[in-house]
Amino acid sequence: MISDRKLEHLLICENYDVEFKNKTTGFEDIELIHNVLPEIDKNEIDLSTSVFGKKLESPLFITAITGGHPAAKSINKQLAIAAETNKIALGVGSQRAACEHPELEDTYAVVRENAPDCLLVGNIGAPQLNLAEKAVEILDADILAIHLNPLQESIQPEGDLDARGYVNLIEQISESVDIPILAKETGCGISGQSAKTLVDAGVDFIDIEGAGGTSWAAVETYRAEDKYFGELFWDWGIPTAISTVEVTNAVNVPVISSGGIRNGLEAAKAIALGADAVGMALPFLKNCSSQKQLNELIDKFNDSLRIAMFLVGAKNIEELKQTDLVIRGKTREWLNERGINTKNYSRR
Ligand code: FNR
Repeated sequence: MISDRKLEHLLICENYDVEFKNKTTGFEDIELIHNVLPEIDKNEIDLSTSVFGKKLESPLFITAITGGHPAAKSINKQLAIAAETNKIALGVGSQRAACEHPELEDTYAVVRENAPDCLLVGNIGAPQLNLAEKAVEILDADILAIHLNPLQESIQPEGDLDARGYVNLIEQISESVDIPILAKETGCGISGQSAKTLVDAGVDFIDIEGAGGTSWAAVETYRAEDKYFGELFWDWGIPTAISTVEVTNAVNVPVISSGGIRNGLEAAKAIALGADAVGMALPFLKNCSSQKQLNELIDKFNDSLRIAMFLVGAKNIEELKQTDLVIRGKTREWLNERGINTKNYSRR
């Protein structure tokens, strides 16, 4: 049953409009300051970064998409080759089905086979404490992600609605595996307070997955007979730019900004807001039919990030993190209401 659901999710995301309708990521409110005298050589801009000891050629994660259905194997293989070739990081979709049905293990094992040096991120839900070690082993993961998705569970007909005890389960997962633990949303973002709770529970890394990109209320609306609740909550969540600021102000662990990021210019803004890397899911799914398309997607991402860095005079990711920016409009209003001084970003 989980396996069939995985296939439905893939088909819906590939073929229907699953993105937010009336809410955006908020990156349109972030303005990097143009530098007319960059005084750097654009061709020497260094996009590389290091995450838990592994070097990435660019600060990009392909975030969790799939696995657990025979159709997912070829997608994971394509993504693995692209991640290995371009030296970026790759996360897989929830591993629950494969942990419970060994015949599906190869839909994940195919990833390490094709990406021997890649930074790989496994994926389970908080209730699957007993599957944590198995998930790490099947993938040969470097990091284990725990996905948190109360909105999707609320809209999904077969959703898990008892969220009691998750903090304790996360604590136990972080004690039971000996690799770093990442906590991720799936498109509703993470607040500063939730991030603190996660880090106190032992989480080493946060992937915010904010609002403005793929909406899981939308995906589940297409599956549900009664569309009322999915349509009502289609645009629920903390916009990605806002969640990035809330989380990076609240905790001292590395942060991935994600959810609706679609190019290197948005990535530059996310990193200038404090993120260590960015993630994208839907664009990779939509381009995974050929290596050519995947490489073009990654090249365009890298080139647009490089142009943004050139235009602010940042020759590496650390310098980009320090660049001045202005936060305007609804994003500033939200952050100021939440007690974050947006002037701290405009004159650093
Ligand atoms: C996802 N995502 C996801 N996340 C997760 O933690 N476990 C999972 O199994 C899945 N499955 C999945 C399937 C498909 C088809 C897509 C497109 C996405 C969520 C994903 O990692 C990400 O959080 C959101 O999609 C938001 O990012 P984008 O798509 O706006 O870049």
